[in-house]
Amino acid sequence: MAERIILQTNGAVDHAMRNAGTLEGWKEHVARYAVGNSRLVLALSTAFAAPLLYPTGAESGGFHFRGASSTGKSTALVVAGSAWGGGGIRGYVRTWRATSNGIEGIASMHCDCLLCLDEMGQVDGREAGQIAYMLANGVGKARASRTGEARPAAEWRLLFLSSGELSLADKIAEDGRGRKAAAGQQVRIVDIPADAGAGMGLFENLHGFPSADAFARHLKMAAGEHYGHASIAFLRTLVDNFDAIAPNVKAYVDEFLEENCPTDADGQVSRVAARFGLVAAAGEMATLADVLPWEPGEATRAAARCFRDWLAMRGGVEPAEESEGIATVRRFIELHGTSRFEAMGDLAPKDGFGGPVEQRISNRVGFRRRADGGGIEYLVLPEAWRTEVCAGLDAAAVARTLARRGYLATDSEGKPQVKTRLPGFANAVRCYVIPADILGEAEPAPVAAGGPLF
Ligand SMILES: Nc1ncnc2c1ncn2[C@@H]1O[C@H](COP(=O)(O)OP(=O)(O)OP(=O)(O)O)[C@@H](O)[C@H]1O
Ligand SMILES: [Mg+2]
Repeated sequence: MAERIILQTNGAVDHAMRNAGTLEGWKEHVARYAVGNSRLVLALSTAFAAPLLYPTGAESGGFHFRGASSTGKSTALVVAGSAWGGGGIRGYVRTWRATSNGIEGIASMHCDCLLCLDEMGQVDGREAGQIAYMLANGVGKARASRTGEARPAAEWRLLFLSSGELSLADKIAEDGRGRKAAAGQQVRIVDIPADAGAGMGLFENLHGFPSADAFARHLKMAAGEHYGHASIAFLRTLVDNFDAIAPNVKAYVDEFLEENCPTDADGQVSRVAARFGLVAAAGEMATLADVLPWEPGEATRAAARCFRDWLAMRGGVEPAEESEGIATVRRFIELHGTSRFEAMGDLAPKDGFGGPVEQRISNRVGFRRRADGGGIEYLVLPEAWRTEVCAGLDAAAVARTLARRGYLATDSEGKPQVKTRLPGFANAVRCYVIPADILGEAEPAPVAAGGPLF
């Protein structure tokens, strides 16, 4: 006889792992419609990937659907959540707002499960950053108990789906105090453009529905009628084949990486690719187990597509700090190219007789002059480079990146500073010389042509 296990807790647990309708109804009226819709397939596959974290030792983290209002973001969360539960007043999906008040309780309650967090817009940037970090790190704050003894911090392991109009990075920058999302945060919560580019918001295939609007409304309604069965059916198959999970998933993720992750990708990129691979593996496993009514390959295609969209939006395969450094310098010159750089040489203003005119530059960071081959060069003094242009970043690392990309002149020894004679300085001084090209070119080309799928 099967062993009966009773879980006894201190109080009632406010969970949403209820069920209604049937698994067949869910497959027919909800899951089937995800086919051909990369975001829906990814969201549903993520629902099944959560219980794979434990047997495979994969790290916690999440996907964030970012995009304009009424494009189907919350719908995608509702659809994915219906694999796990629903009902009650709120259904399975939680909000960022509610989570910021009780993150530890909510996160531990979703341990090894999917957590859906809607509406990042409801919390401020700093809070969003902290929640994302904590959720993905899997541990809460240690607190004192009523008797003053240290109470162990809550721990969890989960995957989450989130939605909002801004990306986490933009959200964190939103408060205007110059905060930036750390690269670590951007790896933990992977930002996916909600718009799939087919002119129908998050959707690509409406399966005969007259409009994206009608399709979204159907999905939400059907997910409210059939929910909570799929996760149980999937967990059953996992339990029956527990020892095979880790090796199977690993082989699958390796294959996914080989096919989709550019070979020259930075560690941050391959870490994110591995998360997409895990999700693809989960979708394929649930398909094989007949929990998802999809053809084999559907989950993999969707994960690969979303990974490509993430990579294209990220702007390349180099570490996020590098693209951020280039963007920061570019932004500084765009904003202050004329106001904070004193013109020198033939750019310097002259009076009617060709004599020099005194320039009033407040908070000068350097000079600008005509380059040998035409164009304008910006020369930044070392102190201003560190404290103004690269404020908040590792200035030496930014200089190295720019030099490597041809956005900074180097001296004969390859150093990214060049000795130059500047007006008002008795001797030649070392400064950073930035060609105007840095303004002309768009963000680094989306993904090198070398990657196997591109
Ligand atoms: N792709 C779409 N095209 C047109 N209308 C849509 C689309 N997706 C959703 N809608 C309509 O918008 C309503 C809200 O959908 P949903 O909650 O998924 O949007 P959302 O992207 O989360 O928006 P918000 O950012 O405002 O929360 C749906 O009930 C539907 O009527
Ligand atoms: Mg919404």
